[in-house]
Amino acid sequence: MSARVLLVTGAAGFIGANYVRHVRNADPQARIVAYDLLTYAGNLENLAGLTEGDNYRFVKGDIRDAKALDAVFSDEKITHVVNFAAESHVDRSILGPEIFVDVNIRGTQILLEAARRHGVERFLQVSTDEVYGSLGPSGLFTEQTPVAPNSPYSASKAGADHLARAYYHTYNLPTLITRCSNNYGPYQFPEKLIPLMLINCLEGKPLPVYGDGMNVRDWLHVSDHASAIEVVLATGRVGEAYNIGGNNEWPNIEIVKRLAALVDERTGKAPGTSEALITYVTDRPGHDRRYAIDSTKIRDELGWTPTYTFEAGLPETVDWYLENESWWRRIISGEYRDYYAQMYGERERL
Ligand code: NAD
Ligand code: TYD
Repeated sequence: MSARVLLVTGAAGFIGANYVRHVRNADPQARIVAYDLLTYAGNLENLAGLTEGDNYRFVKGDIRDAKALDAVFSDEKITHVVNFAAESHVDRSILGPEIFVDVNIRGTQILLEAARRHGVERFLQVSTDEVYGSLGPSGLFTEQTPVAPNSPYSASKAGADHLARAYYHTYNLPTLITRCSNNYGPYQFPEKLIPLMLINCLEGKPLPVYGDGMNVRDWLHVSDHASAIEVVLATGRVGEAYNIGGNNEWPNIEIVKRLAALVDERTGKAPGTSEALITYVTDRPGHDRRYAIDSTKIRDELGWTPTYTFEAGLPETVDWYLENESWWRRIISGEYRDYYAQMYGERERL
């Protein structure tokens, strides 16, 4: 079998970058073409340490740009596509839904079409459990749960899933869909719950908990998500969707309290200092109450299991943010954006 040539879109984001690092270690033979528009959420520092050469290249590009995609597909002879590129934040989708439709739905269709034109062995669409909508106090999302998205973000991701499925049924494009629960771990952009709360604890700022804090999310370490994607990409049945989750449900308020306690412990603050920063704020409109994933299919069919427990993963994540303060400080200050404008301005003139 010849080595894979992977097009990883959205590779400079949180999960994309962790996935690229995972593949680099697990399959050194694979050539990885990291493709990312470097929006506010894309950060080349997330890919620091990967060196351009025989098995790695970064391309700044838009999944909505068919011409740019054509060039990459033909120059690189792409064999596998993993599509992480998306607008990913629910709150932003409530403030401005248009870009979510444009990138997540139209962009995915343009990427699928490029993959079809050039022929690939596999196309994996990275989706989310949020396409299933919201659960009551019991029950789990299975792959048979009807898709019923509630936010503009999840609706746009569901639209992309439908297109990936349709490209399989209509054009025989070998697509696969993964639907994962909430991720946590290194390099997560500080607009999402865990890094936002962590950084606010460190900065002594209020910890804004939406509603009553009893909304439940099912948390999975990002490296377990990366390993699941690799398994589905290699051995999943084309045309199928696979749920990914770690049976790790927590109400938001419990997570915030745990993070607050961990920060106090790690930074030598008196116990309770950070927890006192908790501030309940107006709920998110249409806030899904509970997500919980049944990942029996990927476990039984493909033999995947997560390796991280929350007990190990959460303190490790707190330590990562403590050790990588310069990473998040640059994001918060917006300094990194100026850096990219300068760097890419110069590169494009070459
Ligand atoms: P992220 O916002 O950190 O990263 C998204 C990346 O996509 C960024 O690097 C951004 O620059 C890039 N991008 C955006 N628009 C683009 C475009 N038009 N062309 C090329 N690149 C573009 O998001 P994330 O949390 O890493 O999520 C990655 C994927 O995983 C998304 O598709 C998301 O829906 C899905 N997902 C996320 C979670 C989670 O908990 N974060 C859970 C399940 C699924
Ligand atoms: P988030 O990280 O935005 O992920 P998602 O909405 O995709 O699940 O939010 C996780 C949960 O945390 C969600 O129930 C909303 C809640 N939340 C807060 O209570 N406060 C916040 O400041 C943020 C960002 C999220």
